[in-house]
Amino acid sequence: MAFSVGLTRFIVSSHPKTAKEILSSPAFADRPIKESAYELLFNRAMGFAPFGDYWRNLRRISSTYLFSPRRVSSFEKQRSEIGEGMVRDMKRMMERNGVVEVRRMLHYGSLNNIMLTVFGKKFDFAKDEGLELELILKEGYELLGIFNWGDHLPLLGWLDLQGVRRRCRTLVAKVNVFVKKIIDEHKRRANGVGIDEGEGEDFVDVLLGLEEKDRLSESDMVAVLWEMIFRGTDTVAILLEWTLARMVLHPDIQSKAQVEIDSVVDSSRPVLDSDIQRLPYLQSIVKETLRMHPPGPLLSWARLAIHDVPVDGHMIPAGTTAMVNMWAITHDECNWAEPNKFNPDRFIDEDVNILGSDLRLAPFGSGKRVCPGKTMALAAVHLWLAQLLKSFKLLPSRNGVDLSECLKMSLEMKNPLVCVAVPRFE
Ligand code: HEM
Repeated sequence: MAFSVGLTRFIVSSHPKTAKEILSSPAFADRPIKESAYELLFNRAMGFAPFGDYWRNLRRISSTYLFSPRRVSSFEKQRSEIGEGMVRDMKRMMERNGVVEVRRMLHYGSLNNIMLTVFGKKFDFAKDEGLELELILKEGYELLGIFNWGDHLPLLGWLDLQGVRRRCRTLVAKVNVFVKKIIDEHKRRANGVGIDEGEGEDFVDVLLGLEEKDRLSESDMVAVLWEMIFRGTDTVAILLEWTLARMVLHPDIQSKAQVEIDSVVDSSRPVLDSDIQRLPYLQSIVKETLRMHPPGPLLSWARLAIHDVPVDGHMIPAGTTAMVNMWAITHDECNWAEPNKFNPDRFIDEDVNILGSDLRLAPFGSGKRVCPGKTMALAAVHLWLAQLLKSFKLLPSRNGVDLSECLKMSLEMKNPLVCVAVPRFE
């Protein structure tokens, strides 16, 4: 499909073949940048950096020191403690209200997971710095999600009628103070310590310890660190909320997952990362949720044609924005049998790679700009889901489960999940 908004030309692919053509083509390795993302410093962060040496350097540094499987597993203890914290929160909410609303708990858990891995620090979001971080983040998500006419009509952009630029500048000033304070704390602590893959070292330590040739300026560091919070928090929390909603709606699937967990993890010990590979059904549940509710269905995929390039036999001019509608692909019966049925068993019958090689289900994208955080995201979702399902039987609340969708930065549940969580072991 092709269309224009103002001066911007778009093409949208809803087919695995053209999606692959776009995502794996070096001609589409650039990304368009909205004014809000530019104003919020993201032009210097990995996700919006133009394809070139600066972007390549960021990808290399983060793949080695933040997203490598070894680095992800070194944060198992923190991840597990966050999951145990969620279990305690759920018990408390049940005692207090007789039902649990999971959205806030998942958002805070996911945010603290990123803050610990990237900044080495976790927060209490009810007060002081934690409260400030939450307000900054909320404003950032809102600004990035606004449809800004100025992105497509230059005159309106100049006038800033929607006030996007003004709000972004106010926010960036706060972001700078917040992130620079954490960088300064690390500088004081580190005092010349170089890169060491030891446990406890966070991504700020890594960036500060880089060799001269790779070192980032302080403002670039702020941009890179800041982006990780935006990209890594809500995607994970939203995926887990959809997964829990599906568990409430499908008690048979939920109890099959619990039988699997019980057969692998003794009730007297916590779930470990190493258990996950022995929980194929649990992994299939997450895959099926990603198929039915891909968190980044359209916008996070935007790519920009660097030069004229043919796609599916049509010449696409340089400067065109290309998007992949993963939602349409994963709901198309040409790609999936009974696409509207939630059926994790389809992934037991067929081993589908969801990390970018099979475009029938590529929720993390594909090609050079594929999501670098996919291993980190899946590690958290698998572990937290196993911890929650091991601890609780999830039942519908009086209002049931509403699967209506709402497209913001990610594809969210329109109405937060509220359910009853009955402890499985006392
Ligand atoms: C369920 C969780 C997640 C989903 C569904 C998701 C999805 C995506 C998608 C669809 C893209 C665009 C890929 C493309 O253009 O081909 C992307 C890019 C990106 N994601 Fe994720 N993501 C998730 C979690 C994370 C996490 C935890 C982080 C980091 C902490 C992260 C960091 C990034 C970055 C930095 C990019 C830009 C990469 C580039 O342009 O080079 N994501 N993600």
